[in-house]
Amino acid sequence: MTQNKPIILTGDRPTGQLHLGHYVGSLENRVRLQDSHEQFIMIADMQALTDNADNPDKVRSNVIEVALDYLAVGLDPSKTTLFIQSAIPELNELTMFYLNLVSVARLQRNPTVKSEMQQKGYGAEVPAGFLMYPVSQAADITAFKATVVPVGEDQLPVIEQTNEIVRKFNNIYGDVLVETKALLSTNARLAGLDGKAKMSKSLGNCIYLGDDADTLKKKVMSMFTDPEHIRVEDPGKIEGNMVFAYLDIFATDKATVAEMKAHYQRGGLGDMKVKRYLLEVLEAKFGPIRERRAEFAQDKAAVMEILRQGSLKAKAVAAQTLYEVRKAIGVEYF
Ligand code: TRP
Repeated sequence: MTQNKPIILTGDRPTGQLHLGHYVGSLENRVRLQDSHEQFIMIADMQALTDNADNPDKVRSNVIEVALDYLAVGLDPSKTTLFIQSAIPELNELTMFYLNLVSVARLQRNPTVKSEMQQKGYGAEVPAGFLMYPVSQAADITAFKATVVPVGEDQLPVIEQTNEIVRKFNNIYGDVLVETKALLSTNARLAGLDGKAKMSKSLGNCIYLGDDADTLKKKVMSMFTDPEHIRVEDPGKIEGNMVFAYLDIFATDKATVAEMKAHYQRGGLGDMKVKRYLLEVLEAKFGPIRERRAEFAQDKAAVMEILRQGSLKAKAVAAQTLYEVRKAIGVEYF
């Protein structure tokens, strides 16, 4: 049977384990999409090095962690190609060709790059590799002729820049590259345990997919609720209360949640009880994922073999595109 599924390319920087924010924002989607799409998922270690040049061990050790997270949530290597960015040198060659189509000023204007540069306090001393990571990302996407890129909202400017590169390339050298579309998750963004807008490693407010039962419990018990809800009999607030925010996202029994909310607002329902219910809900959903993760972690050689096979397959696809690109530019001499 010939497959004619739309092609997806997406990925994550291996700078830490993946957390529930990743799950809600992208992993859950990718598991769903792997049946209807030809999906390539890349562990973006080259991109991770653009702001971790002095810490290669962090990147290296997190390649396997991210792979474990992928497998644990149910990404199936027989459906989804999992691979490592640095194993595909073709991507870097594509990047070099594309760099000539992009101005430094345009990169500096890219809102994603701009805000990350600010966060990191780079200023003019920004590593050149970091500044141009959207070009390398354009190489990732176009190498696979991906028409769909599931990403978070923060990555939209990178997709826009990818399409600019595609149009410019095709204008100058002829139609080789394919434009792409961002696919945004329809899920609400998951806030942090502390109530901050985003669950993020740098804020230290995450539940990781690999967290053990004890850690999960401690984290749920520490969640931000209503600071003015002191005594059980007092009325409590739902707005900004992370325990209810998480229940809204993860609990399937909406009626019970609605009942609890009413009870909490009326007074007479303690934080402890609601937290215990959330813990039950999270344990039911993420307990099996944690167990699967631990199983895969027992045979890391097998996981590396999955990545090796995926990288071989990805390399063949990228090499074909690179061949077409070189031919279109006219740098095939021999
Ligand atoms: N920029 C993504 C991140 O911050 C990782 C990434 C690299 C990526 N190349 C990509 C995502 C291509 C989608 C498509 O995690």
